Amino acid sequence: MKKTSMLMATISVVAALGTATSSPLYAQDFGPVPQAEVDAAKAALGQRLFYDPRLSGDAAISCSTCHNPEKGFADGLPLAKAYPGSDGFRNAPTLINAALKAAWFHDGRLGTNLNDVTRESITETYTMNMDMRLMQERIKQDPIYVEMFEAAGYGEPSNGSVRKAIPEFLKTLTSRGAPFDSGSMSDAANRGFELFTGKAGCADCHSGPRFTDDDVHNTGAPENPDIWSDPKRHLTFVSFANFMGINNYMNLRRDPGAAIRTNLMDGSDIGKFMTPTLRELTYTAPYMHNGMMATLEDVVAFYNVGGGDDPNMDERIRPLDLNEQEQADLVAFLEALSGDPLTGDEFVWPEKINVNYAPFDNWLDARN
Ligand code: HEC
Ligand code: HEC
Repeated sequence: MKKTSMLMATISVVAALGTATSSPLYAQDFGPVPQAEVDAAKAALGQRLFYDPRLSGDAAISCSTCHNPEKGFADGLPLAKAYPGSDGFRNAPTLINAALKAAWFHDGRLGTNLNDVTRESITETYTMNMDMRLMQERIKQDPIYVEMFEAAGYGEPSNGSVRKAIPEFLKTLTSRGAPFDSGSMSDAANRGFELFTGKAGCADCHSGPRFTDDDVHNTGAPENPDIWSDPKRHLTFVSFANFMGINNYMNLRRDPGAAIRTNLMDGSDIGKFMTPTLRELTYTAPYMHNGMMATLEDVVAFYNVGGGDDPNMDERIRPLDLNEQEQADLVAFLEALSGDPLTGDEFVWPEKINVNYAPFDNWLDARN
């Protein structure tokens, strides 16, 4: 953690504790999300790239098609769309605070850095289906990019710098302004926080400023049958599973989750997924890796009966016997973890990107 953000965290914990009697226990273990230091010129470039459909093979979709600022940089759908002609098999996660994660995607299959996640998102056939060499040629033809890459200190446009600039923009997407951080939670939310850290046991996995342990667990969340009944979704799943080397993938009727990383012989790792952040949930419904839960009430009811029905379920998922009031309090608490929408010009590219400009007269010959 950077010194400045540590200081900010300390100040705001003091502020939260200062708000007296209703102050929840353990607030200091959670605290606000640290804001990253960002290079403004690089982030502005990353922002434009994020909203630019020319980064996809047929120039039809951009990152923002599935990571929409109005929906907390998720898409509001149970299962995401995919490259035109196909359909997705997982819920599009929020990108808010994603730069702070230890591993990415619902199964945590990329544990290196955002540069790799960006590359994967651009080149994966069912996401943007883009050849990076073609992408580089496209952006080199746009005079605005030529200027912006130069101003960002990258020199001429290259695919390597695209993979640095987009992560720089993603670093700007951090939570702020939640009632939880400003010490302005309702009584119901404060009671919910006590349940969360106490008898409901949620904080066992949903810990720290982002409310996640950055690890994978099996909660027994039900499968989404659309993945197998919809041929376009199934095709995408089969292509993914084949590429990942999953056994018997043609007959498989469940999402193996983190088993693609560990491949245990006894199958006890099947159905484990990354603990998601609990910040900004009011913008990002529906929930879980496959969007099977429409509301926060549904999620709390699911935990209350002891999660799903899976032999490998984490033992901490157990019937909670919360009454209706307690369940409502828990929902009020989860809602208090959502802050200001990230929909200002700082986060949304203000103009429609013109993809119909005339190329340089001599662009085949010119060095740029
Ligand atoms: C067609 C929809 C779609 C498009 C377009 C798309 N994404 Fe995603 N994104 C997803 C889905 C679905 C996942 C989760 C995939 C999984 O778990 O297997 C995801 C996951 C991610 C993650 C990991 C988040 C986390 O919490 O682990 C990042 C970061 C990300 N996308 C960034 C991008 C960027 C940058 C672009 C543009 C270059 C992009 N995405 C384009 C659908 C999309
Ligand atoms: C054993 C670890 C563990 C415990 C305990 C736990 N969770 Fe979770 N939680 C997870 C995992 C893993 C997921 C993702 C499951 C999936 O995608 O299928 C999740 C998903 C969620 C989601 C959906 C978020 C989203 O964006 O999709 C919410 C809300 C949630 N949990 C709240 C709670 C609450 C409230 C409690 C306590 C009653 C709780 N969790 C207890 C691990 C846990």
